[in-house]
Amino acid sequence: MDWGMKNRMSRIFRSKNGRTVMLAVDHGYFLGPVSKLEEPRKAIEPLIPYADSLMLTRGLLRNCIEAKHDIPVVLRVSGGNSIIGKDLSNEEISVSVRDAVSLNVSAVAFSVYLGAEYEHQTLINLTRLIDNANEFAVPVLAVTAVGKELDKRDARFLSLSCRIAAELGAHIVKTYYCEDFEKVVKSCFVPIVIAGGPKLRNELDALEMAYAAVNCGAKGVDMGRNIWQSKWPVAMISAIRSIVHDNFSVRKAYALFNSLKK
Ligand code: R5P
Repeated sequence: MDWGMKNRMSRIFRSKNGRTVMLAVDHGYFLGPVSKLEEPRKAIEPLIPYADSLMLTRGLLRNCIEAKHDIPVVLRVSGGNSIIGKDLSNEEISVSVRDAVSLNVSAVAFSVYLGAEYEHQTLINLTRLIDNANEFAVPVLAVTAVGKELDKRDARFLSLSCRIAAELGAHIVKTYYCEDFEKVVKSCFVPIVIAGGPKLRNELDALEMAYAAVNCGAKGVDMGRNIWQSKWPVAMISAIRSIVHDNFSVRKAYALFNSLKK
């Protein structure tokens, strides 16, 4: 791996354990003012000290995040769809690698939609993005999107999506946690991080999911709603960190969450 690429990867994955807590706040690119991110600056700023990287769009980055922060950025570079549009999978590359580099990013993120109407378009665009990003030594994170069909989140579908993304050259893959998750991790030869998905019933469920994922071999989380839609986002991201970085059990992490929420 090229020095620049290695250096960028090492900004995202901590050297102590090769793991990461990425804070995902890119949802507005197709969801608009999603609940609890209506005022992004207010929601994101207090969480920055607890995140290993921020995943977001260039609009949010340029307008709502102070440039002084020493936090690696994973830039969302796909878009062109919306939650009210005809097909969520109809995404294209929405940012040039040149602009991403001008924002000093540590990686770029792009969604692929397996089994969807625009599967081919998203996969070919992923390879084009990777060709461009490789020239600038910028890692590409492939997001294995499921669109509106959350029931696609099983080991068979996610293994297929993750492996194809890795085969096409993605440097990191983000996917969902599912039953038999170790199968997904085993058959994907690049680091996997998990998305949290829609807000779960309670914080304990989200901690259990993060714990199970890292114990199956995920290199961490790229989590959004289960952190910033919690009533206690700082307590929640701290508890997630304790699992990812300090090998806390769910019980200990939940106790930490409860003590911090006070
Ligand atoms: C999709 O909206 C984005 O790729 C999110 O970054 C991803 O789904 C992670 O966020 P959450 O944990 O809220 O699912």
